[in-house]
Amino acid sequence: MNKLDIDALDQADLLGSYRDKFDLPEGIIYLDGNSLGALPKGVAERVATVVKDEWGQSLIKSWNVHDWYPQPGRVGDKIARLIGAEKGTVVSADSTSVNLFKLLTAAVRLNAKTHPERRVILSDTGNFPTNLYIIQGLVDLLGDGYEMRLVAPEEIAEAFNDDIAAAVITQVDYRTGRRHDMAALTARAKAVGIKVIWDLCHSAGAFPIDLSGSGAELAVGCSYKYLNGGPGAPAYLYVAADLQESIRPPLSGWMGHTTPFDFDLEYKPAEGVARNLCGTPSVVGMSALETALEVWDDVDLNLVREKSQRMIELFAETVDELCPDAGFSQVTIYPEAQRGSQISLGHPEAYAIMQALIDQGVIGDFRAPNILRFGMTPLYVSYGDIYRAVEILAEIMATGSWDQPQYYARSAVT
Ligand SMILES: Cc1ncc(COP(=O)(O)O)c(C=O)c1O
Repeated sequence: MNKLDIDALDQADLLGSYRDKFDLPEGIIYLDGNSLGALPKGVAERVATVVKDEWGQSLIKSWNVHDWYPQPGRVGDKIARLIGAEKGTVVSADSTSVNLFKLLTAAVRLNAKTHPERRVILSDTGNFPTNLYIIQGLVDLLGDGYEMRLVAPEEIAEAFNDDIAAAVITQVDYRTGRRHDMAALTARAKAVGIKVIWDLCHSAGAFPIDLSGSGAELAVGCSYKYLNGGPGAPAYLYVAADLQESIRPPLSGWMGHTTPFDFDLEYKPAEGVARNLCGTPSVVGMSALETALEVWDDVDLNLVREKSQRMIELFAETVDELCPDAGFSQVTIYPEAQRGSQISLGHPEAYAIMQALIDQGVIGDFRAPNILRFGMTPLYVSYGDIYRAVEILAEIMATGSWDQPQYYARSAVT
């Protein structure tokens, strides 16, 4: 594609104006919003207000006068809209890992009532490691013959059988960007009596999701990627309305109690999804997230999806055109229906190449062992950015400028 075509794409882009809603540094092409989303305007001011005016001036009264207390449900409802969930089915809390522990434990216990012989928790080898570690921890805790079973991502549907109690499935693979079919897998799992916990970390804010339409029962996700909630922003969890009263939370903290301020000696779970809260919410972080979510108030996620797919294609075509001999393999080679919102290139020297690219102002990330990962965030990245990013990549590859000692030194976070 030539420059004129790309300019035309940007001019016709109905999402182009959203870039003004973000504070992005000049001269940077940011292709890592699938790891840490950019800073929406207004967030810094909200955080300052919460800290200085609310905490600083209203002190403890803020839980009531500044409505801190209902925040997990309020923020949950905002997220619900973005993931195709009904009001009152999502709360914002804790981290994805902790929320997965809560829902997976509850799901296994719930399934044990109807299928006490089932001892397997299923997942796939493309799942994000924290999810596998949480399964391993739970299996350890439960003992009694429980085990984790891993299969290749493509084999998960065939692996559903009647020894499985629960499955943990991340809708979009963090490395390859491959997307599972949520509706089909949910229907199949239900037919076999398996409880599925969906991880939406790489889905929410990247494309339309229809949790209730696809019959999904349980889900978790983070808010610091496509939702732009900020580093370590509180995660969320979803429990379908008809399942909420059967959930017995394993982390039965006071914020999930029906009347926390009665200081009852006995735990009585709150009604609805709120019982899955545990301890005091992190108000500063949740306030940043709450303001960040305002960006989405009038966004059509179908447009976001459409643009992300065209950007992936532009990126892939431009790599083929400008660096055909650089030794990249296309990891994201799936048909559109099976793609998330990222493109991944394989290269034996992916780490050093990514560091050189970041040095030139194109920020993506590296995922071991050999992946350069580029996230497509249509609200603040243009088609021109994509083309320019690949031009810079081609230059680095053609000159070999990536092959310098400083680019091989591994940082703690990649
Ligand atoms: C699919 C997936 N699940 C979970 C996590 C991390 O979970 P947590 O929010 O607990 O750090 C990530 C982080 O990148 C992820 O990609």
